[in-house]
Amino acid sequence: MTTRTGNAAGNRLGAYSAPDALRAEVLRGLANRPKALPPKLFYDRVGARLFEEICELPEYYLTRTELSILEERAPQIAERCGEHVALIEYGSGAGIKVRLLLDELENPAAYVPVDISMEQLVAVAAERARQYPRLRVAPVHADYTTRFLLPALPPGARRVAFFPGSTIGNLHPAEATAFLSRIRATVGHEGALILGVDRGKDIDVLHAAYNDSSGVTAAFNLNLLARLNREFGATFDLRTFRHRAHFNEAASRIEMHLESLVGQRVHVAGVPIDFARGETILTECSYKYDRPFLEDVVRAAGFSIEQLWTDEQDWFWVGFLVPA
Ligand code: AVJ
Repeated sequence: MTTRTGNAAGNRLGAYSAPDALRAEVLRGLANRPKALPPKLFYDRVGARLFEEICELPEYYLTRTELSILEERAPQIAERCGEHVALIEYGSGAGIKVRLLLDELENPAAYVPVDISMEQLVAVAAERARQYPRLRVAPVHADYTTRFLLPALPPGARRVAFFPGSTIGNLHPAEATAFLSRIRATVGHEGALILGVDRGKDIDVLHAAYNDSSGVTAAFNLNLLARLNREFGATFDLRTFRHRAHFNEAASRIEMHLESLVGQRVHVAGVPIDFARGETILTECSYKYDRPFLEDVVRAAGFSIEQLWTDEQDWFWVGFLVPA
């Protein structure tokens, strides 16, 4: 296992388990106007479990829809990949989707799951190694939004990146291009990228997906504050914040916020943070793509779209991208 995130030593007091780099990022985000925190913070042990619950919600169409496309198209995707590929998955999470590909690939050489959630990564790697005894499974514990080292891959294997779930939606367009450029460099001239992308659609459908009736998305969002309390010695009172999500049409993105219901001062790692009543922390953007938007981002990263598969309702894309 390659570990490229910080250690668990914390600060001089030894009181907090979060690495210094992450704490600095949190404090920078809270010093911003508007306040913002990076969505990768959602995925601690509790958050990763809540996200799995989100994926099962009737309103959260993304996972179901992408899975339906993968189920239907896996043979075609595998054919485009060819044989002896090293599949590198960015954000392997619970690791369900990749099985659809691994089952169809011809003689795959390696599977490299990359994830920020250590618990899930270890479980997924062990499970895949057991299910595919001839497959080389090389997990990487990393925040893939930063640079990380890849393990040695079998010589001659075609590198194919797999970035499902419309996680690309979390990145602002310029960041998405920068990130895809890094994937492009990682897979090389002969490589490819299998990309999951959420498409623009009826606003009511989008709104419901991020404001589910059972409140799991709200719990997922609020867990971020609970995590700051646990790991950064923060003093958030969760009863004084609420989940808000809306579609920003001009930017074509869902925005998730945490709104302070009162004027208050909170401490994070000893630093005072003031909130006006009604002030929010932007915790996540989830961009929704149309074809020209996707073409722009992809082309600027040095990829071209070889094929896009969609579902019956035209809600989601799975794309096969190759170096331009
Ligand atoms: C994992 C980034 C694709 O944006 O839909 C789910 C995360 N946030 N519900 C998304 C999420 C709220 C999800 N992604």
